[in-house]
Amino acid sequence: MALRKLVAGNWKMNGTRAALPELPEIEAAALNAQGRLDVAICPPFTLMSEAAAAAPLLAIGAQDCHHLESGAYTGGVSAAMIADLRARYVIVGHSERRTYQGETDADVRAKAEAAQAAGLIAILCVGETEEQRDAGRADLVVAGQLAGSVPPSGKAANLVIAYEPVWAIGTGRTPSVADVAAIHELIRAKLIELLGPEGTGVRILYGGSVKPENAGELMAVPDVDGALVGGASLTAAQFVPIIQATAAL
Ligand code: 13P
Repeated sequence: MALRKLVAGNWKMNGTRAALPELPEIEAAALNAQGRLDVAICPPFTLMSEAAAAAPLLAIGAQDCHHLESGAYTGGVSAAMIADLRARYVIVGHSERRTYQGETDADVRAKAEAAQAAGLIAILCVGETEEQRDAGRADLVVAGQLAGSVPPSGKAANLVIAYEPVWAIGTGRTPSVADVAAIHELIRAKLIELLGPEGTGVRILYGGSVKPENAGELMAVPDVDGALVGGASLTAAQFVPIIQATAAL
């Protein structure tokens, strides 16, 4: 079943207000492609309000959320606060947070549940390291991350999975089309095992060095329902061709 694709940009810890003029052009490309795919930008928290104002018709997301709604958690930002900005998405469990902040599958699951409770769509990231892939353990690692972090209440309407092999992030390297196809098929099967029929409708994004040059090929792979784009989402010049290549499929 072909699902409506989602192309989401993750700005990571990049961008000041000087980056906001990139957004209207991305918004225009998203509007042109409407009906064929969804587009979102996840800027740093500091830019979310102004991003929403600069491109009011572009969907906005956050890159992380706290698992609790409010309280004495200095520096924390809750899913309810993100939803209050009229954001639609929140990325949870990105490998950079799993690595640098030590987030576990249980943490990621709690964040995804908080996102759902706040009415947001969680973009839940999984993916193996190079060492794990070389050891032939990519499938096991990804299946384990899904089992540990996908909320049992996950639905097609409030959950998106992003498969991001750690070794492909920011490196310019991507898995072969056959490898992407194989692991996305495995993720689909695991989602159906965990969520039942809902698992057939949960979108599975590919992330890791998606560029204008490879987007068409990667987005055409079966069970690839869109992209989570890092570096190439920072400028309209790079991100718009990715939107267009996906919309053309
Ligand atoms: P790059 O597109 O820069 O490789 O980053 C991918 C990523 O981590 C998106 O979340």
